[in-house]
Amino acid sequence: MINRLRFGDERDWFNRRRFGMFIHWGLFSIPAWHEQVLWRGKMRRSDYEVLAREFNPEKFDPDQWLDLAQSAGMEYVTVTTKHHDGFCMFDTKYTDYNVMHTPYKKDIIRMIAESAKRHDLKLGFYYSIPDWHHPNCPNQGRHHEMWGNRQSDEPDYDKYFQYMENQITELCTNYGEVSQLFWDVNILDYNNREFNDRMRKLQPSLVINNRGPDNGDYATPEREEDTDRKFSKSMEFSGHTEACQSLGRESWGHRIDEDYYNPKYLMQCIDRTLAMGGNYLLNVGPKADGTIDGWDIASLKRIGKWYNNIKEAFAPDTYSATSMITDHGGLPLRDKILLTRRQNTVYVHAYEDLASSSIGLRPFTMPPLKATLLNTGEPVEALVDKTPYYHEEDRAYLRLRNLPTAAITDEPLVVKLEFDGTVWE
Ligand code: GLC
Repeated sequence: MINRLRFGDERDWFNRRRFGMFIHWGLFSIPAWHEQVLWRGKMRRSDYEVLAREFNPEKFDPDQWLDLAQSAGMEYVTVTTKHHDGFCMFDTKYTDYNVMHTPYKKDIIRMIAESAKRHDLKLGFYYSIPDWHHPNCPNQGRHHEMWGNRQSDEPDYDKYFQYMENQITELCTNYGEVSQLFWDVNILDYNNREFNDRMRKLQPSLVINNRGPDNGDYATPEREEDTDRKFSKSMEFSGHTEACQSLGRESWGHRIDEDYYNPKYLMQCIDRTLAMGGNYLLNVGPKADGTIDGWDIASLKRIGKWYNNIKEAFAPDTYSATSMITDHGGLPLRDKILLTRRQNTVYVHAYEDLASSSIGLRPFTMPPLKATLLNTGEPVEALVDKTPYYHEEDRAYLRLRNLPTAAITDEPLVVKLEFDGTVWE
């Protein structure tokens, strides 16, 4: 099966822009331990809420952040407008617990929206359903909830849902084009599907995730859950998918002493997810002063150096094509690879370390006109010959050999094969 998922409307930007930056920023960036420090750190609510009096990111320059995103090859940006803590990073008329009531007094979301426009990046908004501040939010001590309401609270589902809808309507009305709505953690069983539709009418390019009132437009596997091969026998996602992951393994918000992933591991995850037809949303947690930590910058730059060399393998109109092998008797694959394809060009993704310096491309029997290692631009040796391994079949298959697997060990290899029109469907 050829995976050419399309919405057939303005949401199709999502198929053309495959790699995005996720940003988790808020009051939690001050204690810098975890974006859920209030809950996971068992803080008192009143001790957390006074952080609003300190929030003053004087060094914040959204252009610097989005320059960084763009230099890493990212083409959209999705930012936390209100996380579980309930603090709003935008100017909202529905609560004072927002950024306009901090020493900073500027609408962070507006600043990011304007910068995204200048950068020609699509803009997405993360919005948490749990709310650990709003008096109407029923907090019943379940996961991602406060252990109970305060005496002064007035828990009321209808009023709280109305509050959420008012705020998301503000977000989808006051900030120009919005292209993604990233709901999170529907522990309250909010189920007004009609609201998603209303937002789509306001914002025709809006793709909505599956963590809100319905399954939305796409699935959101997190931290590599389910993106493994087991997700799909054909090694292609069967529906729209966006995997999300953070640069560090403990937190999405900035964490002092974060345990960072190896950039190579992230590049392998990005390559695998994109080659399976998904998008990848990679998160950075900026610091409370408005800057991005040096480690995050170095990691994004390293990923970008690789991604910019290989990203034509995910260019518009390129689709997952591993089924060219699997549907033609190529399973089990001898080497861990995935394919993408655009017309007669096929890209071979070694998303995990190769066992040898070669890739066997059974059942391909035709040689390409040209084979290039995108990582370096160097030619690759591609030949159709018989190998001892397939002696029983007694047929010659395409093989890429002498790949520099011992020299390039810190990023996944991607090989471009240009055929003259004999590649099968
Ligand atoms: C999880 C975390 C939440 C984070 C989100 C990002 O749901 O609990 O804190 O914002 O992942 O996808």
